Formats: sequence, structure tokens, C-alpha cells
Amino acid sequence: MLHPCHRTVAEAIDAALRASDVRQKVMAARAAARDWRLGRLDFTFDKPMPDHPGRPQHPNLLAPRHMPRRGKAQSLRGRIALFHALAHIEFVAIDLALDIAGRFGAEMGREFVTEFLSVAADEAMHFVLLDRHLRTLGSHYGALPAHDGLWETAFRTRHDVAARLAVVPMVLEARGLDVTPPMLERVRAAGDTRGGAILERILDDEIRHVRFGAKHFFALCQRRNDDAENLWKSLVNCHFRGAINPPFNDSARQAAGLSRRFYAEVAS
Ligand SMILES: [Fe+2]
Ligand SMILES: [Fe+2]
Repeated sequence: MLHPCHRTVAEAIDAALRASDVRQKVMAARAAARDWRLGRLDFTFDKPMPDHPGRPQHPNLLAPRHMPRRGKAQSLRGRIALFHALAHIEFVAIDLALDIAGRFGAEMGREFVTEFLSVAADEAMHFVLLDRHLRTLGSHYGALPAHDGLWETAFRTRHDVAARLAVVPMVLEARGLDVTPPMLERVRAAGDTRGGAILERILDDEIRHVRFGAKHFFALCQRRNDDAENLWKSLVNCHFRGAINPPFNDSARQAAGLSRRFYAEVAS
């Protein structure tokens, strides 16, 4: 399918954010990343980003407390529920990466846009891999309900790039680094080698995503003459409603540029 020709990076990002059809969003996100990389889009931010991106009719979005329990990863049903939940996280992650690039790109510069559009393309790939895997398990994205809490954190931090970086890549995505290895073990123990390989690939990419977030947060603090550690803690307290709990994947966090000293203190 041909995609419409966008002139500015904001137009291309806006189109991908607004796409509500699953395939269309994946293709539009990839097109925005590719066209930017190939120099086909102007570094111009002439469109405000939508506060609520397009969502498909399915899955039904429920408040996290209304989500059914997932069950054991060993059972097929439990595994389908797990991969469905992960597919939803990746689907929303496409929008999280697009939004940070489109909303804060003008103030943060070209490298920021390049890196977060590459994240958007990664998230689209992660989503496709998980949806494909769900299909081999006899299901698909949209077959189960999903929780609608993820976008909220982005929405609450739409006015401040420091707050967005502090809670999205440096808390939510960093959390992914902690929970993926034990998940990977359980999926492999259930004999799902292909599912395990997908989770391993995702984990590798997510280290890079957290690293981009941390790098830009630290650089921003330096420019604003802010103490990174104090600012991060106060932004997390202010904008993140969940808890930051151990166990931490210290080596992955270290590889992403987050030192233990940085997050251990806010752990509850
Ligand atoms: Fe991802
Ligand atoms: Fe990510």
C-alpha cells in the first residue's frame, strides 16, 4: 500500500499517531521512521500532536483493576494472555515513541527525533513479531481485552520533556528490563522456543530504548543546570503512580546508563 506523501516530520508522525487501524499504524510508524532517516522529511513541527492517538476497535480497553488474571505461562491459555498483554504494550509503545519525537522534537533537536523514530520502528517490529506469534498460538491481537493505563502516564507528562523522559523510558521501559528475563525463562520452560527468541530480541532492543531516554534526560539536566538524580526522583514522585519495586535487572539497567544508586532509593 502506498502511503501519503508527507512533507514535514510532524505531519508524518501525526498521521501515524492518528491511525486507528492496527496495520495502518504499524506501516505509518515505519514510514515516518524510514522517510526521516532517508532525509525526505523537513525538520519542521507544524502540527500539534493529538492528545489521544487512534486505537483499533479491538481490543476492548479496561481499567487495569478490571483485567482478568492471566494464569500460568505453562498453559496455552496463559501464554496467549501473556503474549496478548505484551503485544498491547508494544502497540502503545509505538505511540509513546512517536509522541515524544513529535511533541518535543523541536526543542530537543534532530538526534532526538532520529533516535525516537528508530524506537517507534522497533516497537512496530516488536508488535508484529508478537501478533504473528499469537496467531501461531491460535489467537491474535484484539482477541482479548487490554488495559488502558499506559497512555495515561504519557498524557500526564505532555507538557514537559524531562517528566516524559523520567517516567516513560526511565521507569516504564526500564521496568520491562526487570520483568522480561523471568518471563523468558517461563516461556522457554513451557517449550515455546520461538516465543523465547522474540522476548530475547525485545529485551536487547529495550536496553537501547532506555539508554536513549537516559542519555537525553542527563543532557537536558546539564543544559538546564539541574541535578539529574534529584530532578528524576521528584518527577517520578510527581508523575508516576505505581511503585518501583525490586528485583532489578542491574546489568541491563547499567548497560542502559542507569546506575543502581539512581533508582534503588526510590524503590518502595
Ligand atoms: Fe518494545
Ligand atoms: Fe521500547
